[in-house]
Amino acid sequence: MSTSRPTVRVSAIPRPDAPSALQAAQWAFALETDPGEPIDAHLDFLDLDRFHGGYVPGPDGTERLAGVYATLSADCPLPGGTIVPSANLTWVGVHPRDRRRGVLTAMIRHHLDDVRTHRGEPFSILFSAEPAIYGRFGYGLASTIAFLKIPRGAALRDVAGADELVVDIEYADADHHAEPLARCFEASAAGRPGCTIRPTPGTRRYALYDPPLNRRGAETLRVLTVTAPGGDLRGYALFRRSRRHDPESPVTVEVTEAVARDAAATHAIWSRLLDLDLSSHVLTPGLPPDDALLHLLVDARAAHPRLSDGLWLRLADLPAALTARRYATGVDVTLEVTDALLPSNAGRWHLVGTTDGATCTRTDAEPQLSLDVRELGSAYLGGVSLAALAAAGLVTAHDPTALATASVAFSSPVAPWSAWSF
Ligand SMILES: CC(C)(COP(=O)(O)OP(=O)(O)OC[C@H]1O[C@@H](n2cnc3c(N)ncnc32)[C@H](O)[C@@H]1OP(=O)(O)O)[C@@H](O)C(=O)NCCC(=O)NCCS
Repeated sequence: MSTSRPTVRVSAIPRPDAPSALQAAQWAFALETDPGEPIDAHLDFLDLDRFHGGYVPGPDGTERLAGVYATLSADCPLPGGTIVPSANLTWVGVHPRDRRRGVLTAMIRHHLDDVRTHRGEPFSILFSAEPAIYGRFGYGLASTIAFLKIPRGAALRDVAGADELVVDIEYADADHHAEPLARCFEASAAGRPGCTIRPTPGTRRYALYDPPLNRRGAETLRVLTVTAPGGDLRGYALFRRSRRHDPESPVTVEVTEAVARDAAATHAIWSRLLDLDLSSHVLTPGLPPDDALLHLLVDARAAHPRLSDGLWLRLADLPAALTARRYATGVDVTLEVTDALLPSNAGRWHLVGTTDGATCTRTDAEPQLSLDVRELGSAYLGGVSLAALAAAGLVTAHDPTALATASVAFSSPVAPWSAWSF
């Protein structure tokens, strides 16, 4: 295994090679599909025009595939209600044989150049397998998620209308459920910054993809639906029950996705999940820190909230990104931004933003705030305060009033979150 830095060529993976290229990612993630398991679901999840490989010279003079990455373009709600296409980076993996030789670095450079130059997507977002990987590439942590382990029978505060909703539980079936659930998902995502919409039938079916590997001994995926008396789907949860988490407790209910369009649906979903026979606990997926469930639980402390990193965001085209979103209050500020990877983002910018629109132009004026593109990425969706970053020494405020105003202007009343992992 060589540790020298080879020349890495990054290019689109020819379609016939896509199935074998998935193996590079499986090597990276220590995952293996069962022999005989169709891999169509994985391939359908990807946009094969944006499935790229990092190739390095092999010992015999030919090239070999060392790593892969994939991009999905998805509509992304922003603070203030605008929607732009984001570049959702996924399936990033480098074969263990070729790790730490610059393959990821080459692929990220390629991805950001493609996003900025050819696709018109102002930023890239991702979930990171390990939190220490992406900061060096200018990705900032833009959202936090909370995992709960809720005891069975935990009480919820009352919500008007919850009792009128009809709750059903059945086997999850992609053919039957994928599109109705996706429509419900899309309606719930409106107004939630960062909650991109699954863009293709393949990504929508993938939510219900349920191979034995995902189950790890648990039952097959089930769906709980919540419907208004007129038949309108108001929310759903995907879950499976397992006995493996705690040998002293009979059954754990693992929820992989929960979507509610209003408070009554939230109540109906969780009150039923918290009352399943034989169970001891319900494990939630990563929820936004302002999720309604946290306010409905009478004893949230008993759910042992555990915080983790959610979305990471990297500005690819700074002025396009800053003008795409809206601002909670009027802001007129000069930013000095450093960006080691994308010089087109670096320099001084004059941002004027309101609740209705924004302009962002180059300027020679003295900066009021200085920060790296990573910190701007953190603040972009409104979930991380510029003032908090300044308190950590990551933003320099030459003008404290500008920091206070910009912190309010960049904030969002709704915490950023993605309801699905990609
Ligand atoms: C994470 C991964 C993609 C890195 O690929 P790689 O080709 O080894 O990365 P590079 O060689 O380009 O490393 C670039 C820099 O990041 C650092 N780095 C890479 N992976 C890191 C990690 N997991 N934690 C901390 N630093 C990491 C390297 O040390 C290197 O630092 P340097 O520039 O100071 O030398 C690869 O190890 C992998 O596939 N891991 C398992 C799957 C995974 O985590 N994928 C990411 C999914 S979001």
